[in-house]
Amino acid sequence: MKALKFVLICLTVFGLVLFSSNVFAKQTLIYGTTEKIIDMDAREGVAVASLRQMWMATAPVILVLTAEYGRITIKYGDRGKRYAMIEVGHIGQNIFLQCEAMGICAGIVGAFYDTQVAGAIKTQKNHEPLIIMPLGYRL
Ligand SMILES: Cc1cc2nc3c(=O)[nH]c(=O)nc-3n(C[C@H](O)[C@H](O)[C@H](O)COP(=O)(O)O)c2cc1C
Repeated sequence: MKALKFVLICLTVFGLVLFSSNVFAKQTLIYGTTEKIIDMDAREGVAVASLRQMWMATAPVILVLTAEYGRITIKYGDRGKRYAMIEVGHIGQNIFLQCEAMGICAGIVGAFYDTQVAGAIKTQKNHEPLIIMPLGYRL
């Protein structure tokens, strides 16, 4: 089956924003290709957009998982929105599992303003941020 490629992971690290697209979860693996690099550090902007949860900005890496509803609903109609949320949830779970295996701590943030987060990471148009995952090492 041809993948619809409707999920995108944005990684914001010290001074860089990377976009991985073509991402899909298959069993415990996450596949993706890094597509675009913006020379900026979006972590503070993402933290502010997350109801000023400023602890997030201290994480070395923040992942923002977004979905393009327009792409998946072409095939599945309105039901596609639910499939996108299910898929992003699975990808988030895979990230948790992989982080645990690597000794990295991962958190999940759902309290944020969608448009502000999208603006902070300058994501592609039509991509909705669904989950934010700050990653780091235990202090
Ligand atoms: C979907 C979802 C969204 C969440 N959003 C936030 C959030 O925005 N801020 C926050 O501090 N905790 C949030 N939490 C809770 C924490 O990620 C975490 O589950 C909670 O602090 C309990 O962690 P513990 O079970 O490791 O103690 C969210 C949890 C879930 C499942």
